[in-house]
Amino acid sequence: MCGIVGCLGREDAQSVIVNGLKALEYRGYDSAGVAIHSGQKINRVRAEGKLINLQEKLTEQSLPGQLGIGHTRWATHGAPSEKNAHPHTVGGVSLVHNGIIENYAELRENLIAQGAQLNSDTDSELIAHLIHHEISKNKLDFIEALKVVTPRLRGAYALLVMSEDRPGEMLATTNGPPLVVGFSEDSFILASDLLAIVPYTKNIAYVTEYETVHFQENKYQFYDKNFTSFIKEPQQINWTDDLVEKAGYSHFMLKEIFEQPRSMAKSLEPHINVENQSIEIKSLEPHSEFLQNLEQVYIVACGTSYYSGLVGEYLFEKISKVSCKVDIASEFRYREPKLNPNSLVILISQSGETADTLAALRLAKKSGVKTMSICNVEHSSLDREADMQLYMNAGVEIGVASTKAFICSLSLLNLVSGFLAKKKGVLNIVDENHLVASLMATPSHMESVLTCDKFFAEAAEHLKKYKGFLYMGRGVNFPIALEGALKLKELAYMHAEGYPAGEMKHGPLALIDEEMAVVMIAPKDDLYEKTISNLETAKARGGQIISVGAVNDNKLKELSLNFLPLPEVDWNINPFLSVIPVQLLSFHVANALGHDVDQPRNLAKSVTVE
Ligand code: AGP
Repeated sequence: MCGIVGCLGREDAQSVIVNGLKALEYRGYDSAGVAIHSGQKINRVRAEGKLINLQEKLTEQSLPGQLGIGHTRWATHGAPSEKNAHPHTVGGVSLVHNGIIENYAELRENLIAQGAQLNSDTDSELIAHLIHHEISKNKLDFIEALKVVTPRLRGAYALLVMSEDRPGEMLATTNGPPLVVGFSEDSFILASDLLAIVPYTKNIAYVTEYETVHFQENKYQFYDKNFTSFIKEPQQINWTDDLVEKAGYSHFMLKEIFEQPRSMAKSLEPHINVENQSIEIKSLEPHSEFLQNLEQVYIVACGTSYYSGLVGEYLFEKISKVSCKVDIASEFRYREPKLNPNSLVILISQSGETADTLAALRLAKKSGVKTMSICNVEHSSLDREADMQLYMNAGVEIGVASTKAFICSLSLLNLVSGFLAKKKGVLNIVDENHLVASLMATPSHMESVLTCDKFFAEAAEHLKKYKGFLYMGRGVNFPIALEGALKLKELAYMHAEGYPAGEMKHGPLALIDEEMAVVMIAPKDDLYEKTISNLETAKARGGQIISVGAVNDNKLKELSLNFLPLPEVDWNINPFLSVIPVQLLSFHVANALGHDVDQPRNLAKSVTVE
């Protein structure tokens, strides 16, 4: 949730850390701070609000030194304020923390009883107290102190720790939240995400669950869960740092919406044989026998990834003829699910680090059920731990609102349902060719739908005045209605609801009057006539209809105040197209309201806490 960065061995440690925090600002942006060891002492600067506030402070007071840590915060314990900003320093110990400590109250009470002076409301400061206590009172070595403190922490943590009496040393540890080390010449850069490291080196190693790294001058040593040393070789990655530029767009989100056709093509590329128009998912071939006999699919995810899973439910049931159940990860993990042993649990996550989704994966594995991850971030925790892996190939997604990852999840769910259908013998070659051809044609259809950007850019001033938005769809477009409402809530901070259109008469109809916009997704599919009846009902109550439907649908056009045309495509392709107008609507309304679209309030890109 928060972003942490560390640097050891570079004269320009402060700027490496601040640049890293800039790249990680999507993870949290309510306060930031940096602490640098000068060789004699640790100096620290922190600021409330966005990173720019910290940068301004640092121009007046720069921090010399080759060893340092930095943090960009998404508040859990304690308000977003300077006193709660990291790094937290206790005695000579200074640390940054990403995660959440669940036994915070108990630890805090004990420390107060022992006479500790607490300077913040955070859970993170308590860790600094515990480490300091072990070093100063119990005379433990730096790493020994960490070894006795970490088992006392319940919850999630990735930590970078420095000590004033150890000017060339740093400890890095995690029990789950992401942590990567970059190795360049004789310096080290650590961060929650590769984005902060790739401008300096492509030579990296992941610090995985319960691992610790002890850096001393230009040497480092990895330790496992039991603090037994082991060797981990760095690996070379082939990322380029220009992936994180806005490329002329005003916002990352807008750039990412416009990248969707290309992202979709890239998500398909590794898994289709263009010549034969067939689905060939090589990484799933070794699991053919298992897939052939599969009786049940579960899809588990959060937020936008959950909505792509809801589309997946229709795909698996209609294309693969397999029963599919979709769950919100934070519910799944606590409801003691009775999993069919002959089933597959698919976890969808852009980041691959979402705490609840990861917990769901571990629960499924513990129950002996096979798991498949659909992630955008290669080598993320979900990717590493699942039995089968598929990558979205969406490219880096910076905007907090997920867009292109959603499209790529849909494309992989189409492919997996087709692959499964083949294995089960329920997809003949003609239908397979048709499925592949229609997926391959989708990126160019998406290009044409992107032209509705102009409409929303112009209409936003008017749209922002509605008191709320009701999004409706049926079948595979019901999850798109949910996604549209989520996007508007998270970006425009407006009241929005997503509903299956047929459910409207059971309650939400009461919301409709002249101040309520009704976004109706009504492509010409099997349920078209029913959707139109629902639309007429809403219109009769004064609802202001914005419709999304087939390009030649004059009837829909006549019934609507605004009509956004979509090319006519198969039912399973519709969501790729109908999601674009709802994404653009949210973007432009939020922008017209003056909100920070890429970094909406209270949210973070990667939700590594419960
Ligand atoms: C999407 O716009 C949201 N910001 C959010 O719902 C997101 O999809 C959710 O937190 C899940 O993230 P993940 O895909 O990285 O697991």
